[in-house]
Amino acid sequence: MGMADADREMAPTGTGALYRRFVGPLLSSDEGSDAEQLSTLSLAALAQASLRRGWPGVSTVLAGLARELQRPDARLEQTLFGCRFSNPVGLAAGFDKNAVAAGIWHCFGFGFAELGTVTWHAQSGNPRPRLFRLAAERAALNRMGFNNIGAEAVLRTLERQRLPAPGRRPAVLGINLGKSKRTPLELAPDDYASSLDLLAPLADYAVINVSSPNTPGLRDLQQESQLRRLVERLRRLPGCPPLLVKIAPDLEDDAIDAIARMAYEEGLAGVIAVNTSLNRLGLEQRRLASSGLTLAEEAGGLSGAPLRARALEVLRRLRAIAGPALPLVGVGGIDSAQAAWERIAAGASLVQVYTGWIYEGPELVPAILDGLRLQLDRHGLAHIGAAVGSGLPWKETA
Ligand SMILES: Cc1cc2nc3c(=O)[nH]c(=O)nc-3n(C[C@H](O)[C@H](O)[C@H](O)COP(=O)(O)O)c2cc1C
Repeated sequence: MGMADADREMAPTGTGALYRRFVGPLLSSDEGSDAEQLSTLSLAALAQASLRRGWPGVSTVLAGLARELQRPDARLEQTLFGCRFSNPVGLAAGFDKNAVAAGIWHCFGFGFAELGTVTWHAQSGNPRPRLFRLAAERAALNRMGFNNIGAEAVLRTLERQRLPAPGRRPAVLGINLGKSKRTPLELAPDDYASSLDLLAPLADYAVINVSSPNTPGLRDLQQESQLRRLVERLRRLPGCPPLLVKIAPDLEDDAIDAIARMAYEEGLAGVIAVNTSLNRLGLEQRRLASSGLTLAEEAGGLSGAPLRARALEVLRRLRAIAGPALPLVGVGGIDSAQAAWERIAAGASLVQVYTGWIYEGPELVPAILDGLRLQLDRHGLAHIGAAVGSGLPWKETA
C-alpha cells in the first residue's frame, strides 16, 4: 500500500468511513428512516454545494472529496458519440431528477451523470410512500412516477449552476427525458421534443426514456414503429445532441432485437440497458414491512442486485444483434468492480450505478475504477476499450 493509500485508509473523516458509520445503519433495515427522505436531504446539501462550489470553504471540501474518490487514469478514458468520458462509471438517471447537483458529480469520481428523468410538465409523481428498501436483498422497489420540476425549471436550475459548456465538463452530463403523465401517448413525440428543444444546448447527450414502469402506457413506445417515429421527430430538432434510448429489462427477445436493429439503422448514439423491472425476479413472496403486502402485490419497478443477471442477459443480446459499432450502457445491479467488469466484457462501453451506490456508499465508484484498472493489468490490456465486448472473465489473480 502506498503512502496515499495508507492516508486514505486511516483518514477518520474519509467520506467512505463517514458514510459507513452514519448512513450505513440507516440502510441496513427496510424500516426506520424513510428512503425518499434520505435522498431528498442529501440532494438538498449537494444542491447547495453545486451552487456554491467556487466558495473557498466549499471548494476545499469538494477538492478533498475528489482527491479521495477520483482515479484519473488515461487507460479508462474513452471518446464515445463525440463525448469524452474520463472513466466509464456514471450515475444512473433518477437520483438527480431535477439536475440540482450537476456541477459536482465529478467530485464523486463519476465519469458521467445522467440527470432526470425530466418531463415537459412539472409533476408531483405518485403518492408516498413510493420508494422502499429491500435491505437484505440489496434491492429497492420504486414507483416514483417521474416526479420532477419540469423542463423549464430544470433549465433554470442548470443555468444557475453556471456549468462549463458541453464538451468542456469534468464529467459528461446526459439529460434523460420522459413523457409527461398528462400528455396522451399519441402526442408523446411533441412532449419529448418540447423538453429536448429547451434543454439540448445544455446536454452532452440526451436519453429517450421509454422504459419507466411507473407512467401508464410509456413502455408501449418501445414498439419499433413508435420508437422510430419518436427518434425521427427528435432528430429533426436543431442542435439535437447525441440521442440514446433506455430500455426495460422485461422486453421479449424479439423486441430487444428490433430495438438493437433500429438503433443501429437510425444511427442512434447508443442504448442504455436497463431500467427497473416489473418482474419480481424470485422475490414475489417477499413482504414489504411497511404495507404487509408481497412484492407480487405491490406496484413499482425493482432495482439492485436481483436485477443483475437479467440486465447482463439483455446487454449480451443487444451486443449480439448490433455488434461493436453501437455503444451500449450497462445498468442494473452493478455493485462491485466484478459486476462492472462483466458488463463491460459483455459489450458495455459504459456502466451506471444507482441502487448499489446507495448501499455501498461513495466508495463504490473508486472501488470499481481500481478493480477495472487491476483487471486491465491482469489481462495485459492497455485500454478499457479493448475489454469492451471481449468476453474476458474476471481474474482473481495475475
Ligand atoms: C428511486 C429510483 C428512481 C429512478 N428514477 C429513474 C428515472 O427517473 N429515470 C430513469 O431512466 N431511470 C430511473 N431509475 C432507474 C435507474 O436509473 C436504473 O436504471 C435502475 O435502478 C437499475 O440500476 P440499479 O440496479 O443500479 O439501481 C430509478 C431507480 C430508482 C431506484
